[in-house]
Amino acid sequence: MNKILVTGGCGYIGSHTIIDLIEHGFDVISVDNNVRSSVSMLNRVQEITGTNVPHYPIDLCDLEATQNIFETHPDILGVIHFAAYKSIPESVGSPLLYYRNNLNSLINILDCIQQYKVPYFVFSSSCSVYGNVQKLPVTEETPFGIAESPYANTKQMGEQIISNFSKAYPEHKTILLRYFNPGGAHPSGKIGEILEEGITNVIPVMIEAHLGLRNPFTVHGKDYDTRDGSCIRDYIHIMDLANAHTKSFQYLQNNANAPSSDIFNVGIGQGVSVFELIKAFDKAVGESLNYTVGPRRAGDIAAIYANYEKANRLLGWSPKYSIDEVMESAWAWYQYYQKGQEA
Ligand SMILES: NC(=O)c1ccc[n+]([C@@H]2O[C@H](COP(=O)([O-])OP(=O)(O)OC[C@H]3O[C@@H](n4cnc5c(N)ncnc54)[C@H](O)[C@@H]3O)[C@@H](O)[C@H]2O)c1
Repeated sequence: MNKILVTGGCGYIGSHTIIDLIEHGFDVISVDNNVRSSVSMLNRVQEITGTNVPHYPIDLCDLEATQNIFETHPDILGVIHFAAYKSIPESVGSPLLYYRNNLNSLINILDCIQQYKVPYFVFSSSCSVYGNVQKLPVTEETPFGIAESPYANTKQMGEQIISNFSKAYPEHKTILLRYFNPGGAHPSGKIGEILEEGITNVIPVMIEAHLGLRNPFTVHGKDYDTRDGSCIRDYIHIMDLANAHTKSFQYLQNNANAPSSDIFNVGIGQGVSVFELIKAFDKAVGESLNYTVGPRRAGDIAAIYANYEKANRLLGWSPKYSIDEVMESAWAWYQYYQKGQEA
């Protein structure tokens, strides 16, 4: 029994994780309503891995449709729940959309896990649950801060729902992975983060700005109390992040005494400033990014980066890629993607 159901399987992190799971011998099925992605991502996953991933294009807010998948696959070992909306500004403008989608889909999945006796569950959480932290690096013991957006609140509420679920049903083992800032693409350059309208993640924003698809890149504030005055974040290569999911299942399979619920930070443990990120971009692209420096942006914190010692100690996970590799792979993917758009 080694079948993993990946929700949000056509999305950015889901598609890369499917590759890592397949490469480590897991069978994978994907569920995604494709509201924020294309099923073509799975065709390219097949090109890369040589494996066809069965895909169910359903909305996880539909309990009956979700149950049908578990009826069809009574041998699911674990679920990774990526499916969610993830834009902070969009969540501020449309909070109910976020609460409805991100929480209903989670509740339906947990309902099925309990009903169909699925042993393992891994949840995509985020370092945004820590809010505006005072002490760095952040450990899993760092308490929740004030959620800075409805999106961050769905992650805090999601974690609380899972924690209650684990206490009530300890026979199902749950792992919460708190991602820091994922970036980059698969080394083949064939899958990566889609440059969709309204995207706010910094690396796609840099690429779009460089290509003249949006205003010049803005460094929001250079008067923070950091080594060069700009904000510091922990950028983790997408394949390192993908591997943390595989390692989570291997850990649960190999440790019958693992607690019913656990939490791990997934970051590289080093902060990179915005100016350092621009240098890595220039190196990867071979040209200088045109940028301006603007005022601080409301809600931004000066610095956050992870302590990943717990993931290293218990899951045997550690990051392998550098920030230069994050940028190089993001740029290589963009060139492949652009050719596809022009074709
Ligand atoms: N990318 C990041 O920077 C980041 C950081 C921290 C946490 N996360 C979390 O990781 C997870 C995956 O993020 P991603 O970057 O891959 O996002 P993504 O938007 O690329 O993928 C999410 C996928 O879920 C699907 N989806 C959304 N709602 C659905 C529903 N109700 N039913 C079925 N499918 C649905 C979308 O179509 C999309 O393909 C999300 O939960 C996100 O909040 C992402």
